[in-house]
Amino acid sequence: MAVSGARKKQIAVVTGGGDAPALNAVIRGIVVRAISLGYDVLGFRKGWAGLLGEGEHHPLDLDEVEDIHMLGGTILGTSRTNPYKLPNGVEQVKATLKKFNCQYLIAIGGEDTLGVAWKLHQDGMKVVGVPKTIDNDVNATDYTFGFDTSVNIAAEAIDRLHTTAQSHDRVMIVEVMGRHAGWLTLHAGMAGGAHIILLPEYPYDLNEICKIIRRRESQGKHYTMIAVSEGAHPLEGEHITQVAEKDAFDHVRLGGIGERLAREIEKLTGKEARHVVLGHLQRAGHPTAFDRVLGTRLGVHAANMVEKGEFGKIACLQGTEIVSKDMKTALGELKTVPRYRYDEARLFFGVE
Ligand code: F6P
Repeated sequence: MAVSGARKKQIAVVTGGGDAPALNAVIRGIVVRAISLGYDVLGFRKGWAGLLGEGEHHPLDLDEVEDIHMLGGTILGTSRTNPYKLPNGVEQVKATLKKFNCQYLIAIGGEDTLGVAWKLHQDGMKVVGVPKTIDNDVNATDYTFGFDTSVNIAAEAIDRLHTTAQSHDRVMIVEVMGRHAGWLTLHAGMAGGAHIILLPEYPYDLNEICKIIRRRESQGKHYTMIAVSEGAHPLEGEHITQVAEKDAFDHVRLGGIGERLAREIEKLTGKEARHVVLGHLQRAGHPTAFDRVLGTRLGVHAANMVEKGEFGKIACLQGTEIVSKDMKTALGELKTVPRYRYDEARLFFGVE
């Protein structure tokens, strides 16, 4: 796209939190639209960390973003740094933006990154947000970009694991990401044909799980596929943490529920059980076409929001349209799986 004339002002861009497929599509959307509107764009490296200290940055022009929408990860890098938890963190962020002559900031991230963006906006900065997480648990947007890619990766894994589970007459437990919301497990489990789906929102009953496995056994189906969210837990019990330390946003690292279930199921049913932790594979690699298009549209919309002066707002998907909503609607309460959606999935468990 040909661009001429004097540049207006400069937009800083950061990507924070866990990476998600199509982050690069969002960056490309922002850059292409912003440049066409007459802005320069400067990317800061590694989330909020890039706005601290020296201000590690990277000018983003049309050549720089050409074809990056096809790549996974984020060309800017990311981190879970929280400037509000660091001495003079906020002052440093403001000073860095001033030093590099950035009048505007677009923050791409989940609830944590957007929480910082909201506070910076309240502190007088001109900030726009784009919600991001493979967990799809941000309120205010119908789907977050990256979710579709992760669902496809996890669904394919569950789908493929059927053949080995079937060959060995085993119970196969697939642990899927999702701390507090089970969207990823629900969609991947439904698409991949899991016989039992366990979500953080609905504590499970181990006896009921064993009953389903035994019933399948009596019907001549000697294997069972279980999809479980990393944040799922039994009726009486807490979720399992891997390490005690919390990150800068007070999150514990979850994991281990698959292994625990395998052990317990083996003990109670006498059937061989194995677990697979999909882990970061779910966030890795190139985004689906759906996510590339969604990310691109969100990026273009975010640049338009800067032009229109829609600060303290985020770009969201509502139905098939991209709309601007108050950043606050993305904060506070997470979007969790409603009961009726879980009940739809449970129809396929074969529960009596
Ligand atoms: O928030 C997205 C997410 O992928 C969660 O599903 C998961 O619990 C977490 O990030 C893992 O984070 P990290 O990359 O820090 O291990």
